[in-house]
Amino acid sequence: MRVSERIVSFAAGGIVALAAIWASSCAKKAETGRMSIVEEVYGKTAEGEEITLFTLTNESGIQAKLINFGAILTELHVPDRSEKLEDVVLGFDSLDGWLANPAYFNCTTGRCANRIAGGRFTLNGKEYELATNDGPNHLHGGVVGLNKRVWKAEKVQDADSVGVKLDYLSPDGEEGYPGNLQITVIYTLSNKDELKIDYTAKTDQATPVNLTNHTYFNLGGQASGTILDHELMIAADHFTPVDETLIPTGEIQAVAGTDMDFTKPTAIGARIGKVGGEPKGYDHNYVLRSRDGSLALAARVRDPKSGRVLEISTTQPGVQLYTGNFLDGSIRGKGGVEYPKHAAFCLETQHYPDAVNQPDFPSVILRPGETYRQTTVHRFYAQ
Ligand code: BGC
Repeated sequence: MRVSERIVSFAAGGIVALAAIWASSCAKKAETGRMSIVEEVYGKTAEGEEITLFTLTNESGIQAKLINFGAILTELHVPDRSEKLEDVVLGFDSLDGWLANPAYFNCTTGRCANRIAGGRFTLNGKEYELATNDGPNHLHGGVVGLNKRVWKAEKVQDADSVGVKLDYLSPDGEEGYPGNLQITVIYTLSNKDELKIDYTAKTDQATPVNLTNHTYFNLGGQASGTILDHELMIAADHFTPVDETLIPTGEIQAVAGTDMDFTKPTAIGARIGKVGGEPKGYDHNYVLRSRDGSLALAARVRDPKSGRVLEISTTQPGVQLYTGNFLDGSIRGKGGVEYPKHAAFCLETQHYPDAVNQPDFPSVILRPGETYRQTTVHRFYAQ
């Protein structure tokens, strides 16, 4: 090859290489540049009801998948510090897994999330009896809670976000609760990399309502082992101590000087072996500093390995920290992974457990004419 030919061939090679780089950056942009909502059939319940899967994608490529069974977040793909996407929530690969879902992975929980002592409460002079589906207590709305219901679902979209609106009418007496309760849950994924959940509810009789989302997060990826090295900060100076059945004693105790203190970022595993009964671990409600109903930062979690950070803000006065203490490898999840103890953390924004029986806790009673509202925002970034 002559020198002039070599120059031409070198220049051509350079142009090809540049074109390849340009094409690949365009491809990446094309992949990550557009918001979308895709709706597809996911499966059928045993009763033959069709379940829909909604895939929400934002401009930075974050993807959230939701189904109208249990208003469940089935997948959440979030970038790490090198922009690698990973599914950061536990769960199952198909509807069958979600139909059983014994540990309440990622569902909408209610009518009353968390525990009610003895499954009993008195309202307007009448005693109500609910299912006792957790030892002596009522848990997460009963035997067939909101997590096991088929919701009506429709896509919602605006200039900067994509979402799904889910509606369910819980009839008077369902799971022992009084009043017809009309519930709406809206998930929106925005281009600010926030997954927001807005809840509203209305009733025709006084009734307790405490809705939350029960997502099991592992910021290293759902198959990455435990969350013991994740650093957690909770904006709470107090928590509600519990008895051996995890019912609050009624006391509001300072976290300072205890193993419950997450006011400064601390590894979840640093003191976990000293906390709780058997199995050990956090399963406690924190009393958030902000309790006026405004949207305020509740917690921040950082996975040091991947750099992923989750910041949770809420309008709720409390957050239940649950560190997957009851997981023991017996649940086989996505890709056949057997989730070990502490495979995930849940930060369930809500009113305090057993509030319906605790006169000093903020009230959970919703009355006709009122609208129940709760908003929780999950913001993601990497550092
Ligand atoms: C509770 C745990 C329970 C878990 C799964 C959490 O909200 O606090 O005690 O095991 O949900 O049901």
